[in-house]
Amino acid sequence: MAQVSLQEVSKVYQPGDIKAVDRISLDVESREFVVLVGPSGCGKSTTLRMVAGLEEVTSGKITIGDRLVNDVPPKDRDIAMVFQTYALYPHMTVFENMAFGLSLRGYPKLEVANRVKEAAEILGISRLLNRKPRELSGGERQRVALGRAIVRKPVVFLFDEPLSNLDAKLRGQMRTELNKLHLRLQSTMIYVTHDQMEAMTLGNRIAVMHQGVIQQVADPANLYEHPVNRFVASFIGSPPMNFILGKIIRKNGRFYFDQGPCRVKVADEMNPRVASFEGNPILFGIRPEDIYDKLFVQYAPPENTVTARVEVVEPMGAEVYLHLLLGAQSVTARVGGHERPKVNQDIDLVFDMSKVHFFDPNTEVAIV
Ligand SMILES: Nc1ncnc2c1ncn2[C@@H]1O[C@H](COP(=O)(O)OP(=O)(O)O)[C@@H](O)[C@H]1O
Ligand SMILES: [Mg+2]
Repeated sequence: MAQVSLQEVSKVYQPGDIKAVDRISLDVESREFVVLVGPSGCGKSTTLRMVAGLEEVTSGKITIGDRLVNDVPPKDRDIAMVFQTYALYPHMTVFENMAFGLSLRGYPKLEVANRVKEAAEILGISRLLNRKPRELSGGERQRVALGRAIVRKPVVFLFDEPLSNLDAKLRGQMRTELNKLHLRLQSTMIYVTHDQMEAMTLGNRIAVMHQGVIQQVADPANLYEHPVNRFVASFIGSPPMNFILGKIIRKNGRFYFDQGPCRVKVADEMNPRVASFEGNPILFGIRPEDIYDKLFVQYAPPENTVTARVEVVEPMGAEVYLHLLLGAQSVTARVGGHERPKVNQDIDLVFDMSKVHFFDPNTEVAIV
């Protein structure tokens, strides 16, 4: 049985009838790390707050373990939540901040001290236990906030963008630490973020949300390789997938994707997918890393090669992002770090047609 289960859960805020969450169903297994990811305002926090009991469910069911918790108050749900804002008590030491919740619940002093000590060791903050929050860096404060959750030994951890207030480097470090923490604690975790990179690196499974609706739930590799629609395809991956609206044509018995200066042959194994679109519009998607500069490939099939003009060259160190114009269409390619075409130069691009995606231009659903 799933550790946390949401069944057709909706949330409508009053006044104004704002549908923040729209019939979400999601099963989180025991010890699983599930990430809810989506743009700001898509309903992530609302969903998490309903699991925590901080927000009432408008309709649907939430169970934790085998218990329906719709009407169970937050303190009785056996969950611990970590927020973006650390909300530490400024007048208390780190130790007291971490101990506070347990003391309030009447745990014996020794048990409290042991749990705080253990959590502090896990988080590497043992030497900070006597400091006040104002004597800590942002990263250290976030650790204390984590510690406060860990000491509770909850059945489920809920995280709402806990790393958003940290700088990029620290965020990267904390991601690694959260992964380690999950391995060590073997707890069930639900983690909310707007950052697709964070989602990809943290989650066993990722649920992509958009406008209150879960679009797709999958493991990181599947999400990346088989997005179910344009939204997921564009949200996951950086720089994002290129989309070109064109049509499917047939020449000498072969299918081509055609958009003026961009005519490329559909890979044979994809023929069954595009056949019914012959003569009709189709949305073509290709990720920046599946576009190559012809100069740097061993074999460039002419039917997969197009010519584009270099507009901007962005060296990123290990790789270079090329922003190109393919006719009137902007396209981004992600090429090797040593490749430096000149701005305004025309270059030949090779599309890896075995990796491309096709979407129905009306519904934006992937054609599979
Ligand atoms: N207390 C509230 N009252 C009314 N509308 C709210 C409230 N909280 C959130 N919303 C609205 O619900 C939607 C989802 O918000 P939220 O769950 O906070 O999104 P996210 O965490 O993904 O950024 C947004 O449109 C937001 O404006
Ligand atoms: Mg939020």
